[in-house]
Amino acid sequence: MNPTPIENPESAIRNPQSEIGYEPRIVVFACNWCSYAGADFAGVGRMQYPPNVRLIRVMCSGRVNPGFIFKAFEAGADGVLVSGCHPGDCHYAFGNLRARENVEMTKQLLHLLGIEPERFRLEWFTAAEGARFAQVIKEFVEDVKKVGKSPYRTTADGQRMDSELTDDAHCPCVNSLPIR
Ligand code: FES
Repeated sequence: MNPTPIENPESAIRNPQSEIGYEPRIVVFACNWCSYAGADFAGVGRMQYPPNVRLIRVMCSGRVNPGFIFKAFEAGADGVLVSGCHPGDCHYAFGNLRARENVEMTKQLLHLLGIEPERFRLEWFTAAEGARFAQVIKEFVEDVKKVGKSPYRTTADGQRMDSELTDDAHCPCVNSLPIR
């Protein structure tokens, strides 16, 4: 049986050139009070941004723990963006500071799993920043396109995208592979 990228992070390194033209799947966690309102403002204002995005509304960015991020990637997201109120504006005082800590910890874990840093981002918005929301989403989609499909995406028949890869899999925990 072919290994998963968790078993072999080397297999997570893909060739985006072979995937030109694909449309990434993006999950955006948006806090109810600022960033979701900003996204709504963009919609109401008819500001265009790529339709690749699926918004998940949470009451505060501090609610987004690392498990949410991993679940999104496991479910086939090519990129995940966590968004919340600007520091000092969180409606629960320090939820966005908690979010920032969670994001930093999650970045390190994603790195160990072979997920490129371009796939994961934290952004702050106010409810009035519809135009900026649209712009950030456009940039994020372009960044994710450049790194290609997530190695955790599954094909139509349920196989991992990397399933054609590698006989010489080994766990980095025991073989001391260089972790990128
Ligand atoms: S309520 Fe928006 S980040 Fe906490």
